[in-house]
Amino acid sequence: MLKSLKESDPEIYNTIINEVDRQKEGVEMIASENFVSPAVLEAMGTPLTNKYSEGYPGKRYYGGNEFIDVGENLAIERAKKLFGAEHVNVQPHAGSQANMEVYFALLEIKDKILAMDLSCGGHLSHGSPVNFSGKHYTMFHYGIDPKTGLIDMDEVERTAKITMPKMIVSGFSAYPRDLDFKRFQEIAEDVGAYHMSDIAHIAGLCATDVVTNPVPIADVVTTTTHKTLRGPRGAMIMCKEEDRIKPNTKKNLAKKIDFGVFPGMQGGPLDHMIAAKAVAFKEALQPDFKTHCEQIVKNARALAEGLLEHDVELVSGGTDNHLLLMDIDKSFGIRGKKAVQVLDEVHIYTNKNMIPGDRGTPFNPCGLRIGTPAITTRGMKEPEMKQIADWYVKVLKNPDDVTIKENVKSEVLDMIKDFPLYENLDY
Ligand SMILES: Cc1ncc(COP(=O)(O)O)c(C=O)c1O
Repeated sequence: MLKSLKESDPEIYNTIINEVDRQKEGVEMIASENFVSPAVLEAMGTPLTNKYSEGYPGKRYYGGNEFIDVGENLAIERAKKLFGAEHVNVQPHAGSQANMEVYFALLEIKDKILAMDLSCGGHLSHGSPVNFSGKHYTMFHYGIDPKTGLIDMDEVERTAKITMPKMIVSGFSAYPRDLDFKRFQEIAEDVGAYHMSDIAHIAGLCATDVVTNPVPIADVVTTTTHKTLRGPRGAMIMCKEEDRIKPNTKKNLAKKIDFGVFPGMQGGPLDHMIAAKAVAFKEALQPDFKTHCEQIVKNARALAEGLLEHDVELVSGGTDNHLLLMDIDKSFGIRGKKAVQVLDEVHIYTNKNMIPGDRGTPFNPCGLRIGTPAITTRGMKEPEMKQIADWYVKVLKNPDDVTIKENVKSEVLDMIKDFPLYENLDY
């Protein structure tokens, strides 16, 4: 494998080899990352990338799409089954585009959107002033109760009634608890807004009912395919067939969403990625994927327990899903930038993250977000979580102690030998 690449472009070949080795030799705690299966990898690296297929199965603008149609239809049917969706569009190139496409399909520029604040766990595409969403739409935000670390749904309702948005967004990048999607939907219905749920992070857990699945509840659901869902990089949009806000019009909700994706925002779909999405959806439909997702949450809880034993401050005091947010400023007197650096040194990969009421900056915040999807894919369970919690505490308490860092690094390298990754890939 990669034989031609090695000969034709050794620089890129070496970059790939180095990155694969880094992935093999580290404890991957970035909550939005995962390791796809060899079958998903294989589907991505195929000549399907050569094809142009603007349009949808059976209605393409180019010839020669008979097999591409089969692949896209399989992806759609599998996604529908996985989430219980009425309609699915598997063409969005990424999570941010999927959100952009829904806004574009259902709203006018400057329309009002109510979403979670970035510093409380929302995503850039939920209306950050530096993002297209914050620039093109009139954004209002809800946060979390600083005392409990939880979303206060009464506050969401009050804000919705005052601001009367055209869309309410539920979903997050950094919130460790389950969401009350039903209540979000009720509030949206009350104020005449669409409810879009962005389950980019928790899609795998939703598909397996390990946390609440909003697909049967919300008008529209967007998700990435590469996080807990463990598919290739990309996204999809799921929605109801009918438009609750504007029923009985020529274009129902499903058609509006499809039109928003193509020709609204995108040109040709990435057919190799859609094939790989189909492969990942088939994997997620197997019973062992549910067991895997249950283990992700068990691992996150075990990690939380391990950290709490050392009096580490966690936002909301724990987790219901795959991620935890540590207040490392309060717990260890260290901020995000340095924490990520020293953890990199010991091969534990983590991302700095704003936490509610953060006293730092987005580039050097008080929080660290850590997650268990990738290490659970590698096969780690509760005993390893205890060990990882101890490593975090040791390194963050002693960020400049070279001996401690050397010891932790060698313990990390020793432990991961028991959890091989991509063993059968011959590169
Ligand atoms: C909630 C949420 N929505 C959207 C995205 C954007 O996904 P992408 O990076 O594929 O654009 C992310 C990515 O982290 C996310 O967490």
